[in-house]
Amino acid sequence: NWSMEDFINDAIETIREKVGDKRVLLGLSGGVDSSVVAVLLHRAIGDQLVSVFVDHGLLRKDEAQQVLHSLGDDFGLNIDFVDAGKLFLGKLKDVTDPEKKRKIIGKEFIDTFSEEARKFDDVDFLAQGTLYTDVIESGTDTAQTIKSHHNVGGLPDDLQFKLIEPLNKLFKDEVRELGEKLGMPKELVWRQPFPGPGLAIRIIGEVTPERLRMVRDSDAILRDEFAKAGLDKTIWQYFTALPGIRSVGVMGDERTYDEAITIRAVTSVDGMTAEYAEVPWEVLGKVSKRIVDEVAGVNRVLYDITGKPPATIEYE
Ligand code: XMP
Repeated sequence: NWSMEDFINDAIETIREKVGDKRVLLGLSGGVDSSVVAVLLHRAIGDQLVSVFVDHGLLRKDEAQQVLHSLGDDFGLNIDFVDAGKLFLGKLKDVTDPEKKRKIIGKEFIDTFSEEARKFDDVDFLAQGTLYTDVIESGTDTAQTIKSHHNVGGLPDDLQFKLIEPLNKLFKDEVRELGEKLGMPKELVWRQPFPGPGLAIRIIGEVTPERLRMVRDSDAILRDEFAKAGLDKTIWQYFTALPGIRSVGVMGDERTYDEAITIRAVTSVDGMTAEYAEVPWEVLGKVSKRIVDEVAGVNRVLYDITGKPPATIEYE
């Protein structure tokens, strides 16, 4: 009878044997996979693990702080935090094409991570949160991708590491179970999917600090209300997006000409196909009211009732 306890003990022993007294680098994204790998490795080799967390400034509200608090303070991980928000926003200035946005974010991410990795010249290993499904999908070649963050490209030639992929025989639900066994908080272990390019692909048109604020703050309201209504347990993924529609409204005696926010909430098994979720009107109403009341610059809230296909889950 295979137990998670056995898995943990085996994994720790294997990691220790492989690593010896060398150091291991890990790209922490705040997602489930890289966080679980981080905690598992920390248990095996302690401070020989260096976790680099590149914050591209496109994360959800308080997400970076939560990761730093939970993994840094509570689990005692040695986290090298790189605050790259300004850099990414600068690179995204005037960029409106979805593919260009993704490419820029992917490239900047690799560059920033690589630059940081070069500071640790005594590191031999790179740990990744590759899952069994990733191994199958990409054949045998999982080398040199920072999959846990954004599935784009590889590291430059001067950065050659031996790989450590302790989750590569596990499915997603087993990784969550492992995380719980390791004592990780539910918010981290049961986190909904979040794309590597972050909030940028939920903003149609240019990513500006103002528009980022609208998506981020409205998303926080949505998540708060869905959690209060217990919908966070049943709906696979939910978020807000900024479709780039401005429309006329009225606030007090004033005419407004402001942005709209759309709510996206879908049920799915693996993200390949999805159905829009049937959210109670009452909850949608509450979210809508709070968004227009609390998020300056937004005067209209829409609910997206499209499945995938024909739409995708994200907006870009
Ligand atoms: P789409 O928008 O293609 O999304 O229907 C399907 C699922 O994948 C997530 N997604 C991403 N995840 N990097 C990721 O790690 C990405 O670039 C990316 N793009 C989309 C999306 O959130 C959804 O769960």
